[in-house]
Amino acid sequence: MHRLEEIWLTVSCGILIIFMFIVGYQAFALEMGPPSHMETIDPQKVDQTEPFDNPGVFEIGENEYEVVMTMQTFGFTPNKIEIPVGAEVHFTLTSKDVTHGFQVAGTNINAMVMPGHIQKISHTFDEPGEYLVLCNEYCGIGHQVMATTITVK
Ligand code: CUA
Repeated sequence: MHRLEEIWLTVSCGILIIFMFIVGYQAFALEMGPPSHMETIDPQKVDQTEPFDNPGVFEIGENEYEVVMTMQTFGFTPNKIEIPVGAEVHFTLTSKDVTHGFQVAGTNINAMVMPGHIQKISHTFDEPGEYLVLCNEYCGIGHQVMATTITVK
């Protein structure tokens, strides 16, 4: 092999190893892994596990709400959500069966909701309106009808 080839091969392999080390260090030592993997739940016992034993919309502070929601083929519980304009909403989500998606059109909410994991995402709804909520992960035969709305008024 040519001397220059050897040098460049060594340099590029060295860079790869350094990058892998940095990513591994961030993920494991600094715990910068995906946050959705931090809280787990037994997907068979969602109905008996707090807070999912009582899904719904809860006022938890001044203009601050928590939406506890389960997702299952092919719907959302609760499936009609109403919140006041300007409210900060904390969604706590899990799936009872397969992987679903939680996307709210017109916002930057877009989360993957996996069985066995608790997904949390917050958003402040500053504009009144009907927000379409879609499942954006293919989850089976009824995937295309899996939708609901959030009414902000
Ligand atoms: Cu649920 Cu697609």
